[in-house]
Amino acid sequence: MTENTTSTTLHITCGDLTAAHDGRTAMVQGWVNSARDHGDLIFIDVRDRFGVTQTVFDPSIAPEAAALAKTLRSEDVIRVEGRVRRRPAGTENQKIATGEIELAAMQALVLNRSLTPPFPIHGDGDVDETLRMRYRYLDLRRPHMQRNIALRHRAVKTVRDYLDERGFLEIETPMLIKQTPEGARDFLVPSRLHPGEFYALPQSPQLFKQILMVAGFHRYFQIARCFRDEASRADRQPEFTQIDIEMAFPTQDQVIELVEGMLARVFDEALDVQIATPFPRLTYADAMAKYGVDKPDLRFGLELADYGAAFEGTEFKIFASAIAAGKRIIGFVDPGGAARSRREFDALVESALGLGAKGLAWIAFADDGPRSSLPKSALTPQMLDSLTRIGNAKPGDAVLLVADDLVAAQSVAGQLRLHVGAAKGLRDPKRFEFCWVLDFPLFERDAETGAITSMHHPFTAPAPGLEALDGDPLTVRAQHYDVVLNGSEIGSGSIRIHDPELQRRVFRILGYTDEQVHDRFGFLLDAFAYGAPPHGGIAPGVDRLIQMMVGADSIREVIAFPKNQRFQDLMIEAPAPVPPELLRELSLRVDAPRSDAAPKAKV
Ligand code: AMO
Repeated sequence: MTENTTSTTLHITCGDLTAAHDGRTAMVQGWVNSARDHGDLIFIDVRDRFGVTQTVFDPSIAPEAAALAKTLRSEDVIRVEGRVRRRPAGTENQKIATGEIELAAMQALVLNRSLTPPFPIHGDGDVDETLRMRYRYLDLRRPHMQRNIALRHRAVKTVRDYLDERGFLEIETPMLIKQTPEGARDFLVPSRLHPGEFYALPQSPQLFKQILMVAGFHRYFQIARCFRDEASRADRQPEFTQIDIEMAFPTQDQVIELVEGMLARVFDEALDVQIATPFPRLTYADAMAKYGVDKPDLRFGLELADYGAAFEGTEFKIFASAIAAGKRIIGFVDPGGAARSRREFDALVESALGLGAKGLAWIAFADDGPRSSLPKSALTPQMLDSLTRIGNAKPGDAVLLVADDLVAAQSVAGQLRLHVGAAKGLRDPKRFEFCWVLDFPLFERDAETGAITSMHHPFTAPAPGLEALDGDPLTVRAQHYDVVLNGSEIGSGSIRIHDPELQRRVFRILGYTDEQVHDRFGFLLDAFAYGAPPHGGIAPGVDRLIQMMVGADSIREVIAFPKNQRFQDLMIEAPAPVPPELLRELSLRVDAPRSDAAPKAKV
């Protein structure tokens, strides 16, 4: 790969020497991956990003180099020059590219010494995350992190090429902007020149990309850094990256096809995996009914169904009163579930309670008759018959049921479906099942305040158009689409409103006064008044996409320098207090006691 020859010495990476170089003089540089001192021979494996080369030091041939080799420790940085030769028969390592050869060292130089690392570098074993974050530069040297970061590069490079080939321009948008309503809290930056005023870091380039369409750029993209001060989760970071895309004059299908083609190309070039397009499409209502969530994991079935009909007139009081109160009985068939012991069912009930269920009922179709958490009197032949028919349960299966308001029951049953799917090994990280979720509601009611809010953001166009807003806003559908991979929302987009009047109506429904609209979005409405083209776009999240591609548990595995769960960077120890004079310059006074400092890594 990086070959460089000075006089007769081949300067080469640690991954590139093969039997073809037998007899050549070569030089490698890198980190000591392992050192084995056999007395008569010392083996030093030298590692860089490209691979590992075995170097051999023979005290009887190169005594000085061998003496130095004896002092080497893991992670010392060295340069070794010697002659490439085939390894003795039987000692080859077929698992690595350089496994047929070794470098018989003639000279060696220590370029830098390393302290003993706080955890082993050459393996991918479990290491305490605090330690990994504190010593991120060592963590990043580990093989899986090197692979993840390289794959991320390849994926983003593929995206750039793909979009460039289709006439998209990469345009940067500002980082210091004004608050936008995208659902999360903003990170604020005080302005020194305008005391008491703040910039906000962008939650996404949403409004700028729309303005770029008004500005006539037609097809825009940006590998865009976004900032959101929202609750931390395994798939969320306070700063993250989007493949932000916007097009003028698109149909929903054009955006969808563009993204399908892009993802297929990324999987092919970065992972050598072929994914089938087009992706299946589900409506929001279908996704909720069958999977209890708007980001369904389609790697397995276990589809939900409404089992209410089986319990009309039931003796089981809890279900009877739930039905009388308008609640729903939602559940799914657990194939082979009748083999669970009583204790295993009890554990499942515990898990359901942990997921927010008020209870979990189960009926197992065992060989020797039905077993159930329901009282015997409730297990009538009609009920059992109806139950089997609704979910097509077979002998040996079990049916798991929760009763609650529709949304709550779907949500809990959906989570239980994922739990059971995971326990059955059905969530294979090496399988990739995409889908689109469409026909979202435009608005929803905020659970806490009861106010009407946008389900995504206020710039999404309603379907089919203006007249839909005349009735109950909660019934209006949005021209919104989410792309989902293995149960994770990896991208979200919509056709936008481009008519200033329609945009004003949506703001009004959301409860903004004309004055607030003018203050916050005046620039957007002004821009729309100067010939804004119809436009739409999408923003797949890079981090989440790569997380799914490598099958990592956390998004932190695919970001070079992520924040921890408490939004801290433990390596540089951010956030941190600033000197009082800096605060004075910014006309700021800190009113709060300092929150506890970043935990120091245990060494
Ligand atoms: P949305 O807010 O749905 O849409 O974000 C789009 C995608 O960005 C990723 N994402 C995140 N990744 C990591 N950490 C986070 N905190 C985080 N938040 C979001 C997800 C998500 O699907 N402006 C609109 C897009 C548009 O309408 O074009 C937007 O930002 O993968």
